[in-house]
Amino acid sequence: MPSATINVMEAAARKAARGLIRDFGEVENLQVSRKGPADFVTEADRRAERILRAELAKARPGFGFLMEESGETEGEDTRRRWIVDPLDGTTNFLHGIPHFAISIGLEEDGGMVAGLVYDPLRDELFWAEKGVGCYLNRRRLRVSSRRRMEEAVLATGIPFKGRAGKDAFLATIGPAIDNTAGVRRFGSAALDLAYVAAGRYDGFWEFGLSPWDVAAGIVLVREAGGFVTDISGRAVTIQGDSIVAANDRLHTPLQRMLRDSLKESVGDRAPGSRLRHTVSSSSPSPVARAMRREPHAGRSSSDPGDARADPTAGGNGGSERTMTNAERIVEALRRKPGLDDDELSRLADVTPRQQVNRICRRLEREGKLRRERGPRGKIVNDPVR
Ligand code: IPD
Ligand code: CA
Ligand code: CA
Repeated sequence: MPSATINVMEAAARKAARGLIRDFGEVENLQVSRKGPADFVTEADRRAERILRAELAKARPGFGFLMEESGETEGEDTRRRWIVDPLDGTTNFLHGIPHFAISIGLEEDGGMVAGLVYDPLRDELFWAEKGVGCYLNRRRLRVSSRRRMEEAVLATGIPFKGRAGKDAFLATIGPAIDNTAGVRRFGSAALDLAYVAAGRYDGFWEFGLSPWDVAAGIVLVREAGGFVTDISGRAVTIQGDSIVAANDRLHTPLQRMLRDSLKESVGDRAPGSRLRHTVSSSSPSPVARAMRREPHAGRSSSDPGDARADPTAGGNGGSERTMTNAERIVEALRRKPGLDDDELSRLADVTPRQQVNRICRRLEREGKLRRERGPRGKIVNDPVR
């Protein structure tokens, strides 16, 4: 049963979607007009955002907003805010290509706790809530179980004129082509993530996305049993400059393949850094370096997505290291209710082993973690699903 929160998100999305469907019909007619549909689409986008804002604010008056068109609005409730893209896949919409969505995420105390991505043309409502699971309409979703990269179908985004990320994209697409069954570019990051959650894609990566593109999708993938990190393997943030999402089996090989190809292309990899788990907050990340080299990278300064164009300005701060064991456990445990957030973040930090052990022992007592001795007597932590 969807919670009251999901019901609120669904009602808002369905109301805004009615307008989008009507406007999409009109856009198809406007393709042949001299002026084209561009202004009309901008207005459709804004209209959808106004409806979403009004509906969400009516149901949850105190919550804040971060919306693509109108930016940030602080609410009386400083712990919670809606992160909304009223139309993800604008270029598709503009060209009459039937693939776009509304994306609504709910952030609580800085973490994503609910997400909904609605594809109005297919009437596919993807939704997830922390600890509850991920659903397509009323059907429970689970990421794919493919374990071989050569069988995987991946999705990505291709930057366009005026957008950062071209060098990073070019560096990573080659190995993806060489090693997988295919790469898709459908033009809606929110739906790309929803499709990873649904097991349609085995993985997805992109550079330079904005918070509203990924906020809902991150919850969908996690709740469907997948992993989401940045390209360095660190826990993802909605302000990050890269995202890698995949099923639980392929995430690590995919993330490492992309990271290594990016490092190789950027060129100043420290000897051995490919193998070591390093933490270096002084040097910018490979994505930052790749993006900095680009002449046209960046958006207008009024765009709240600016932090993306200069990745060093975002929460990622340029440090780079691969996901630790503890972080993997944390990613899996995020889907479980009742786990103290402080403890989660403490686990996710570069954690002294003793501390990890202490927390893991407690989780084991609570039945959230199975700890077994591996072949060489080493303890293996395995989240109980
Ligand atoms: C875009 C889509 C696209 C991604 C772009 C986004 P918009 O969002 O998600 O797939 O590649 O980077 O900006 O502009 O259609 O809302
Ligand atoms: Ca978007
Ligand atoms: Ca948009």
